[in-house]
Amino acid sequence: MKPKAIVFDAYGTLFDVNSAAEKCKSKIGNKWESFANFWRTTQLEYTWLRSLMKKHKDFWQVTEDSLDKSMKVFNIDNSLKKELLNLYKILSPYPEVKKVLTNLKEKKFKLAILSNGTPELLEELVKENNLDNLFDDLFSIEQVKIYKPDSKVYDLPIKKYKIKPEEIVFLSANTWDVSGGGNYGYNSVWVNRNRSHFDNLDYHPKNEIGNLTQLLDIV
Ligand code: LAC
Repeated sequence: MKPKAIVFDAYGTLFDVNSAAEKCKSKIGNKWESFANFWRTTQLEYTWLRSLMKKHKDFWQVTEDSLDKSMKVFNIDNSLKKELLNLYKILSPYPEVKKVLTNLKEKKFKLAILSNGTPELLEELVKENNLDNLFDDLFSIEQVKIYKPDSKVYDLPIKKYKIKPEEIVFLSANTWDVSGGGNYGYNSVWVNRNRSHFDNLDYHPKNEIGNLTQLLDIV
């Protein structure tokens, strides 16, 4: 692959969405992981539903709304809400992220994030994790006010860089996002960290990797 830009999804791909609940596991107990997965699924459902209903709210508000529901479902005391939200702002990156991005940057690839997150959230996430000098752009769906997988979102880097969709290598750990980008025309790569099964959404990525280090072998 000779991409003109390498574009990464943020949540779940570069940053571990379960890390906020994991850091509170002594307070939440054994159910922390089921709770974290429920919170994430509810958050994503709200993005899709809001896009279909044309009732946009930004990702930070959706994250809080989905947290409120998840805390009720899992019977978690409301006193933890603020801590969980604060931790969500500084989610941990996966261990290999910084090394891989630094390597790609040295090879002069154009690097960007394309995410549901608000510009403020994305800026804080990369800054907190000392990744802020590595990206050329942080593209947020707030520029178009509709969530992935709407094609207006995947248009953003194409318009800015004036390149063709197939000249982008797009990485996501979220299977539906891999399909969204792939059906749009990106060269999508699935980051399959948990040896999961892919979706049946009429796209199958040519490349599947177990973590981002393996990206260095294919670009
Ligand atoms: C994002 C979500 C899909 O970062 O993880 O856009």
